[in-house]
Amino acid sequence: MRRQTWRALAIVALGWVVIQPGVSAQDRSADKLTVSKRVYDKRLLLAKPQLSEDALKGRALWVQRCAYCHDGVGTPTYKTLGPWMDAGTVRPEREAFVREFIATGSRRMPGFRYTLQKEQVDQLIAFLKSVTPDQKPTAEQLSKAPPTEAPTQ
Ligand code: HEC
Repeated sequence: MRRQTWRALAIVALGWVVIQPGVSAQDRSADKLTVSKRVYDKRLLLAKPQLSEDALKGRALWVQRCAYCHDGVGTPTYKTLGPWMDAGTVRPEREAFVREFIATGSRRMPGFRYTLQKEQVDQLIAFLKSVTPDQKPTAEQLSKAPPTEAPTQ
Protein backbone atom coordinates (compact mmCIF):
# COMPACT_ATOMS: atom_id res chain seq x y z
CA MET A 1 0.00 0.00 0.00
CA ARG A 2 1.16 3.52 -0.67
CA ARG A 3 2.41 5.68 2.20
CA GLN A 4 -0.41 8.16 1.77
CA THR A 5 -2.98 5.40 2.15
CA TRP A 6 -1.33 4.22 5.38
CA ARG A 7 -1.35 7.74 6.69
CA ALA A 8 -5.03 8.15 5.90
CA LEU A 9 -5.81 4.86 7.64
CA ALA A 10 -3.79 5.91 10.69
CA ILE A 11 -5.71 9.19 10.92
CA VAL A 12 -9.04 7.39 10.71
CA ALA A 13 -8.01 4.88 13.40
CA LEU A 14 -6.70 7.61 15.66
CA GLY A 15 -9.89 9.59 15.18
CA TRP A 16 -11.89 6.56 16.22
CA VAL A 17 -9.84 6.03 19.37
CA VAL A 18 -10.08 9.71 20.28
CA ILE A 19 -13.82 9.98 19.62
CA GLN A 20 -14.90 6.77 21.38
CA PRO A 21 -14.32 7.81 25.04
CA GLY A 22 -16.06 11.12 24.30
CA VAL A 23 -19.18 9.35 23.08
CA SER A 24 -19.44 6.92 25.97
CA ALA A 25 -18.78 9.68 28.51
CA GLN A 26 -21.71 11.55 27.00
CA ASP A 27 -23.93 8.46 27.21
CA ARG A 28 -23.18 8.09 30.91
CA SER A 29 -24.26 11.61 31.81
CA ALA A 30 -27.84 10.61 32.46
CA ASP A 31 -28.75 14.05 33.76
CA LYS A 32 -28.53 15.36 30.21
CA LEU A 33 -31.24 12.99 29.02
CA THR A 34 -34.85 14.00 29.12
CA VAL A 35 -37.37 11.22 29.44
CA SER A 36 -40.81 11.97 28.15
CA LYS A 37 -43.72 9.75 28.92
CA ARG A 38 -46.59 9.22 26.58
CA VAL A 39 -49.73 7.48 27.64
CA TYR A 40 -51.36 5.38 24.97
CA ASP A 41 -54.85 4.04 25.11
CA LYS A 42 -53.89 0.38 24.74
CA ARG A 43 -57.40 -0.70 23.82
CA LEU A 44 -57.34 1.65 20.85
CA LEU A 45 -53.79 0.76 19.99
CA LEU A 46 -54.39 -2.97 19.98
CA ALA A 47 -57.88 -2.89 18.49
CA LYS A 48 -58.25 -4.46 15.07
CA PRO A 49 -58.45 -1.89 12.27
CA GLN A 50 -62.03 -0.86 11.77
CA LEU A 51 -61.75 -1.08 8.02
CA SER A 52 -61.47 -4.16 5.84
CA GLU A 53 -58.17 -4.70 4.07
CA ASP A 54 -59.63 -3.42 0.80
CA ALA A 55 -61.06 -0.32 2.43
CA LEU A 56 -57.71 0.40 4.11
CA LYS A 57 -55.93 0.22 0.76
CA GLY A 58 -58.65 2.40 -0.71
CA ARG A 59 -58.16 4.90 2.09
CA ALA A 60 -54.45 5.15 1.29
CA LEU A 61 -55.25 5.69 -2.40
CA TRP A 62 -57.90 8.23 -1.48
CA VAL A 63 -55.43 10.22 0.58
CA GLN A 64 -52.87 10.14 -2.23
CA ARG A 65 -55.07 10.80 -5.24
CA CYS A 66 -58.44 12.21 -4.26
CA ALA A 67 -58.52 13.84 -0.82
CA TYR A 68 -56.93 17.12 -1.81
CA CYS A 69 -59.88 17.84 -4.10
CA HIS A 70 -62.63 16.15 -2.14
CA ASP A 71 -62.08 15.88 1.55
CA GLY A 72 -59.44 14.90 4.01
CA VAL A 73 -60.06 11.75 5.93
CA GLY A 74 -62.02 12.71 9.00
CA THR A 75 -60.28 16.08 9.08
CA PRO A 76 -62.12 18.50 6.85
CA THR A 77 -59.68 20.20 4.49
CA TYR A 78 -62.13 23.07 4.01
CA LYS A 79 -63.42 24.46 0.74
CA THR A 80 -62.23 21.71 -1.51
CA LEU A 81 -62.71 21.93 -5.27
CA GLY A 82 -64.76 18.76 -5.47
CA PRO A 83 -67.82 17.67 -3.48
CA TRP A 84 -67.91 15.69 -0.24
CA MET A 85 -68.30 11.96 -0.82
CA ASP A 86 -69.45 9.15 1.41
CA ALA A 87 -71.30 5.85 1.31
CA GLY A 88 -74.30 7.58 -0.29
CA THR A 89 -72.18 8.59 -3.30
CA VAL A 90 -71.41 4.96 -4.06
CA ARG A 91 -74.76 3.37 -3.21
CA PRO A 92 -75.47 0.43 -5.51
CA GLU A 93 -77.55 2.26 -8.11
CA ARG A 94 -74.80 4.91 -8.52
CA GLU A 95 -71.80 2.61 -8.58
CA ALA A 96 -71.63 2.25 -12.36
CA PHE A 97 -71.85 6.03 -12.78
CA VAL A 98 -69.13 6.56 -10.16
CA ARG A 99 -66.78 4.07 -11.85
CA GLU A 100 -67.32 5.77 -15.20
CA PHE A 101 -66.75 9.20 -13.64
CA ILE A 102 -63.49 8.11 -12.00
CA ALA A 103 -62.30 6.67 -15.31
CA THR A 104 -63.28 9.65 -17.46
CA GLY A 105 -63.07 12.61 -15.09
CA SER A 106 -64.56 15.95 -16.06
CA ARG A 107 -63.42 19.44 -16.97
CA ARG A 108 -62.40 19.93 -13.36
CA MET A 109 -61.37 16.42 -12.38
CA PRO A 110 -58.66 14.29 -13.99
CA GLY A 111 -59.69 10.91 -15.38
CA PHE A 112 -57.96 7.95 -13.80
CA ARG A 113 -58.55 5.46 -16.62
CA TYR A 114 -54.84 4.96 -17.23
CA THR A 115 -53.53 5.49 -13.73
CA LEU A 116 -55.79 3.34 -11.57
CA GLN A 117 -56.33 -0.39 -12.04
CA LYS A 118 -59.82 -1.83 -11.68
CA GLU A 119 -58.75 -3.39 -8.39
CA GLN A 120 -57.71 0.01 -7.05
CA VAL A 121 -61.06 1.55 -8.03
CA ASP A 122 -62.73 -1.35 -6.17
CA GLN A 123 -60.64 -0.44 -3.12
CA LEU A 124 -61.57 3.24 -3.40
CA ILE A 125 -65.23 2.32 -3.53
CA ALA A 126 -64.82 -0.02 -0.56
CA PHE A 127 -63.31 2.89 1.33
CA LEU A 128 -66.09 5.32 0.34
CA LYS A 129 -68.66 2.79 1.52
CA SER A 130 -67.10 3.02 4.97
CA VAL A 131 -67.46 6.81 5.14
CA THR A 132 -70.63 7.72 7.02
CA PRO A 133 -72.51 10.97 6.28
CA ASP A 134 -72.01 12.20 9.85
CA GLN A 135 -68.32 12.73 9.05
CA LYS A 136 -69.24 15.46 6.59
CA PRO A 137 -67.81 18.82 7.68
CA THR A 138 -70.44 21.04 9.20
CA ALA A 139 -71.27 24.52 7.95
CA GLU A 140 -69.64 25.83 11.11
CA GLN A 141 -66.38 24.00 10.42
CA LEU A 142 -66.39 25.21 6.84
CA SER A 143 -66.84 28.82 7.90
CA LYS A 144 -63.65 28.71 9.96
CA ALA A 145 -60.09 29.02 8.76
CA PRO A 146 -58.31 25.69 8.22
CA PRO A 147 -56.47 24.44 11.30
CA THR A 148 -52.76 25.09 11.29
CA GLU A 149 -51.95 22.06 13.40
CA ALA A 150 -53.08 18.47 13.38
CA PRO A 151 -55.80 17.84 15.94
CA THR A 152 -54.62 16.25 19.17
CA GLN A 153 -56.54 13.34 20.53
C1 HEC B 1 -58.28 18.11 -9.32
C2 HEC B 1 -59.32 17.84 -8.36
C3 HEC B 1 -59.92 16.47 -8.25
C4 HEC B 1 -59.27 15.29 -7.99
C5 HEC B 1 -57.78 15.06 -7.83
C6 HEC B 1 -60.29 14.28 -7.88
N1 HEC B 1 -61.51 14.84 -8.08
FE1 HEC B 1 -63.30 13.86 -8.12
N2 HEC B 1 -64.26 15.57 -8.58
C7 HEC B 1 -63.68 16.82 -8.67
C8 HEC B 1 -64.71 17.81 -8.94
C9 HEC B 1 -64.47 19.31 -9.12
C10 HEC B 1 -65.92 17.11 -9.02
C11 HEC B 1 -67.33 17.70 -9.28
C12 HEC B 1 -67.74 17.45 -10.67
C13 HEC B 1 -67.13 18.44 -11.62
O1 HEC B 1 -67.08 19.64 -11.30
O2 HEC B 1 -66.69 18.02 -12.67
C14 HEC B 1 -65.61 15.70 -8.79
C15 HEC B 1 -66.54 14.70 -8.79
C16 HEC B 1 -66.28 13.39 -8.51
C17 HEC B 1 -67.27 12.33 -8.51
C18 HEC B 1 -68.73 12.46 -8.88
C19 HEC B 1 -69.52 12.66 -7.60
C20 HEC B 1 -70.99 12.65 -7.86
O3 HEC B 1 -71.67 11.97 -7.13
O4 HEC B 1 -71.44 13.36 -8.75
C21 HEC B 1 -66.63 11.19 -8.14
C22 HEC B 1 -67.23 9.80 -7.96
C23 HEC B 1 -65.24 11.53 -7.91
N3 HEC B 1 -65.07 12.87 -8.13
C24 HEC B 1 -64.30 10.64 -7.48
C25 HEC B 1 -62.95 10.93 -7.37
C26 HEC B 1 -61.95 9.98 -7.00
C27 HEC B 1 -62.22 8.53 -6.61
C28 HEC B 1 -60.76 10.62 -7.04
C29 HEC B 1 -59.38 10.04 -6.78
C30 HEC B 1 -59.02 8.85 -7.50
C31 HEC B 1 -61.01 11.99 -7.44
N4 HEC B 1 -62.35 12.15 -7.61
C32 HEC B 1 -60.04 12.96 -7.59
C33 HEC B 1 -62.35 17.11 -8.53
C34 HEC B 1 -61.34 16.18 -8.30
